[in-house]
Amino acid sequence: MKADQKRWDKRFGRKEFALGKEPNPFLKKHIRLLPKGKALDMATGEGRNAVFLAQHGFEVNAVDISEKGLKKVKKLAREKGVKINTFLVDLDQYQIEKERYDLIANFYFLRRRLIPRIKKGLKKGGKVIFETYLLEHRKLGTGGPKQTKYFLKPNELLRLFKDCRILFYREGIFKEGGRRKAVASLIAEKIQKGI
Ligand SMILES: C[S@@+](CC[C@H](N)C(=O)[O-])C[C@H]1O[C@@H](n2cnc3c(N)ncnc32)[C@H](O)[C@@H]1O
Repeated sequence: MKADQKRWDKRFGRKEFALGKEPNPFLKKHIRLLPKGKALDMATGEGRNAVFLAQHGFEVNAVDISEKGLKKVKKLAREKGVKINTFLVDLDQYQIEKERYDLIANFYFLRRRLIPRIKKGLKKGGKVIFETYLLEHRKLGTGGPKQTKYFLKPNELLRLFKDCRILFYREGIFKEGGRRKAVASLIAEKIQKGI
């Protein structure tokens, strides 16, 4: 078992939802910009965002390495009366099916080498919504990962998606969901095939 899996299974193994049941505020605010259809939620955790997408009419595939997390996804989906397809996968190995998705959501999971696969996984006109921590977050003392590689540098997320049409981008310190966080948030559209 990978160390990541062990760590997250431990965190998600408790009865309460470690990351809450409410969707990410950026996703909630911009849901109307996102094209309905087939969605992939990368590293879904306990499914707060996957379930929200399903409630808004998306057909959602939710992937994560934590079995305990995926059990919570099913539980939350049952509670809210929606269906989610869950897949226990290691995203370091996983091949996203090409040109399959109208929307790919990536919240608080940073693997730079997956960015080209995310783009390939989108249909032309499909969108990606992405949010994760900036390096500045470490100074705030409000939680988050330990290793530097999991933080974005200034404008990095923008650069990673520069071959897509950027529909929304922000970077900074925001107070959302009751705590301060330094993040970059992006919505981008795939405008050409073959990237
Ligand atoms: C900070 S949580 C974010 C969860 C969710 N996206 C959210 O915003 O609520 C990070 C997630 O990444 C998952 N994860 C870590 N390494 C992974 C890997 N190699 N493959 C798939 N998922 C992984 C963890 O199990 C955990 O659910």
